[in-house]
Amino acid sequence: MKIIKEIDKDILTLGACLIPTMGALHAGHIQLIKEGKKLKLPLIVSIFVNPIQFNDKDDFANYPKTIDKDIEILNNLQVDYLFIPDSEYIYPSNGFESIDSGELGRKYEGESRPGHFDGVLTVVNRLFELIEPKAVIFGKKDAQQLFLIKKLVLDKKYKIQIIECKTVRDSNGLALSSRNILLSKKGENIATSIKKLLNETKKNFLTSKDIENSLIEARDKLSTKNLKIDYLEILDYETFCKPTKISNSYIIVIAAYVEGIRLIDNLDFQLEETL
Ligand code: PAF
Repeated sequence: MKIIKEIDKDILTLGACLIPTMGALHAGHIQLIKEGKKLKLPLIVSIFVNPIQFNDKDDFANYPKTIDKDIEILNNLQVDYLFIPDSEYIYPSNGFESIDSGELGRKYEGESRPGHFDGVLTVVNRLFELIEPKAVIFGKKDAQQLFLIKKLVLDKKYKIQIIECKTVRDSNGLALSSRNILLSKKGENIATSIKKLLNETKKNFLTSKDIENSLIEARDKLSTKNLKIDYLEILDYETFCKPTKISNSYIIVIAAYVEGIRLIDNLDFQLEETL
């Protein structure tokens, strides 16, 4: 594996598959890399803890950093390139394009983390400009991020294939996230209620077809006080908005705090699904 801090023209001609990350790699990232290897394209993993997507300075400062372990993982997986740019390379002082994530970027995750999606789209756009990948791989755990990146690719008419990978969970159903290492064992245990709550909400909704009541019931059933819900919504999967009419596919999105750590998860499903 070649570790690079800048992109040279030789890489551009390769038509690579890019996996953007902020490091602190876990089994979820490994799954993305395994998917990437199937494409038989040169594989570039980027590690850049993007300062402009953090609205909270402490969250940025505390974001887990495990670069030596990350390099070992990527070496073992025989990734072709590890791109670790400096901030000045991504955000040159002579200017770069800032992307506005629009109305949707200010809802759900964006409401609690003002500017977050502008920062995500700006860095992803910079990575696309610099690397010109043929394909890019994202996890479905960050569903709103994925939705907005797909929109960016359409708006900018990028010829980039987006590959979506299903959320990887631990044996208790907790979605893997770099932030999980900040939880105590007890916290991890509490966090498993998130997936249970998603399943509960889906079941209530498929039975009643009543969004508001399903959400109220799910919240009432939440048995632990140690988990603070920020939002829990049932959205139209196609528009990522609150449904205005019956849709065929839905997504339940949740953000919750456990031990002060913000965790997100989601569950998408078809209306026709049997319970
Ligand atoms: O999902 C992430 O890890 C980040 O938001 C991303 C896409 C690498 C941009 O910094």
